[in-house]
Amino acid sequence: MPFSSDEQPDPRESVLRERREDAVNGYLGRTPAIYRSTIQIHTAAQRWADQKADTPPSLFLTGSIGVGKTHTAWQASRIWLGARIEKTGRMPSIETWRSTALFDALRPDNRDYDAKSLTRTLQRADLLYVDDLAAARVSPTGWTQERLYEIFDERYINRRPVLITCDVLPNQISHIVGDRVASRLGEMCRGGVLLLEGADRRKAGAAA
Ligand SMILES: Nc1ncnc2c1ncn2[C@@H]1O[C@H](COP(=O)(O)OP(=O)(O)OP(=O)(O)O)[C@@H](O)[C@H]1O
Ligand SMILES: [Mg+2]
Repeated sequence: MPFSSDEQPDPRESVLRERREDAVNGYLGRTPAIYRSTIQIHTAAQRWADQKADTPPSLFLTGSIGVGKTHTAWQASRIWLGARIEKTGRMPSIETWRSTALFDALRPDNRDYDAKSLTRTLQRADLLYVDDLAAARVSPTGWTQERLYEIFDERYINRRPVLITCDVLPNQISHIVGDRVASRLGEMCRGGVLLLEGADRRKAGAAA
């Protein structure tokens, strides 16, 4: 049945909806396979992703091995992307990094990345998601910690959000990221530290 004149869809709205769907599907395409399925995420993670006025801009997901931090983070960041497009009408940039790969990329002898331009990209991205922040067995060197400081300080002073997964709390990561970054993360994620509880879901018999 044809639309009557006052039922015409707003063309800007449909362009925005299309843009949002394309962006979210594109992000789903770069999501690791096991984290593409939709799960039930914690209400606080959902509220952060929806960017509710009373939620802090950054989210720090913590909890023991296998509780679902990374899966929650991928899903929350996907929702965050759609919500940000809806809010601003423009396409945000999201940088997603496993911490060990990030520390490697920031090493002075890394040949795959130019440390300066990578630092700039990570300073300016609309959202920086770092997975498993405390995973490294060997702490980054002083040089790499300085690059981390540049990245996190720039984000901190400009109130740009970060999404972190980590099996320890922000006050227990100084030995990995350095005291200055740990201090800034503590403030950036104040009110946004979410402890996921439960069994290791990878173990047979763990509650779904
Ligand atoms: N809410 C959920 N419902 C069903 N399956 C889930 C849920 N959350 C996570 N899973 C599944 O449980 C497994 C472990 O999840 P995930 O990798 O997110 O854990 P993690 O907390 O990041 O672990 P680690 O500390 O080792 O990095 C994955 O197979 C994931 O798909
Ligand atoms: Mg994980």
